[in-house]
Amino acid sequence: MNFSLIGAGRLGKSLAFSLLHDDLGELRDLCNTTLASAHTATKRLGAGRPISSLTKLKDTDILWITVPDEHIAAIANTLAEQHILKPGTVVVHCSGVLSSAVLNPLTQLGCHTASLHPFKAFSLNQLDPNAFQGCYCALEGAPNAINTLSPLFKQLGAVLITIEPEKKAVYHAAAVIASNYLVTMAAISTKLLVEAGIDAAVAKRMIHQIMQSNLNNIEQAITPESALTGPIARGDTHTIKRHIKALNEASIRQLYATAALATLPLTQLEAAQQQEMRKLLRACQEINVTGP
Ligand SMILES: NC(=O)c1ccc[n+]([C@@H]2O[C@H](COP(=O)([O-])OP(=O)(O)OC[C@H]3O[C@@H](n4cnc5c(N)ncnc54)[C@H](OP(=O)(O)O)[C@@H]3O)[C@@H](O)[C@H]2O)c1
Repeated sequence: MNFSLIGAGRLGKSLAFSLLHDDLGELRDLCNTTLASAHTATKRLGAGRPISSLTKLKDTDILWITVPDEHIAAIANTLAEQHILKPGTVVVHCSGVLSSAVLNPLTQLGCHTASLHPFKAFSLNQLDPNAFQGCYCALEGAPNAINTLSPLFKQLGAVLITIEPEKKAVYHAAAVIASNYLVTMAAISTKLLVEAGIDAAVAKRMIHQIMQSNLNNIEQAITPESALTGPIARGDTHTIKRHIKALNEASIRQLYATAALATLPLTQLEAAQQQEMRKLLRACQEINVTGP
């Protein structure tokens, strides 16, 4: 089996590296807007022909579209309008939010289309042969595409789950909250530790450590809620008031209040206690809308 890729970014390179490492296909073309990046990627992978134009793509069994989501539809349209692919080609994109329907122009020409989204954050320059080991991947699309992709990903060690195409947006919102916003929380809380006088490198390690301990607790707990600790879980209004007073930046105060409001229903606090805290936090949100 051979495959080609459009998009030599974080996911594209990782995917190609894993498939090549496990001898699950031969890389034909690696198409990327910036030709130099395609060259660098093929050198790093030790395989593939670097190209920068879709019209240069040669026949392939599987075509991976690993470009940013907003470019997928235009690429599918160009491939279809110019009859670049032969019928029977499996065409897959990796967007979390878009379904395989965005590839419909190619389906109409006899290609087998799918979306396969790895529920994982791939870093910029690390190529890990085990990147897909134990990685949940949400797959949906045409039966022929699923039948081709399932055995490949099982061999990579991935855990495949099916997803309804119309549920992809809510599915992907979950991924973004857990993945991207964890990074947001890490950045903001590191900044606050620095504001408290702690060295930046130490602050980064401290935040990583406390996040890791919570991740471990979540892993061991039956539900995420039961891993909750801290002043909201304890109903400690005095501490919350002190935090709000200490937070100088309006946007951080707003984030704190919004996250605290979302945390309240996860606690075992009595209704009256929850109500008192809700009032305090809502007032804090109000101040932020008009205040500094
Ligand atoms: N990164 C992740 O952790 C992750 C996880 C799951 C799913 N995904 C999905 O994977 C896809 C790619 O994401 P990514 O993070 O790998 O993106 P990325 O690192 O930004 O890489 C995108 C690559 O696509 C190239 N590109 C953009 N438009 C193109 C076009 N029209 N033709 C050819 N090449 C084009 C870019 O080239 P230039 O640099 O020359 O512009 C770049 O090399 C997205 O659908 C994303 O949702 C990503």
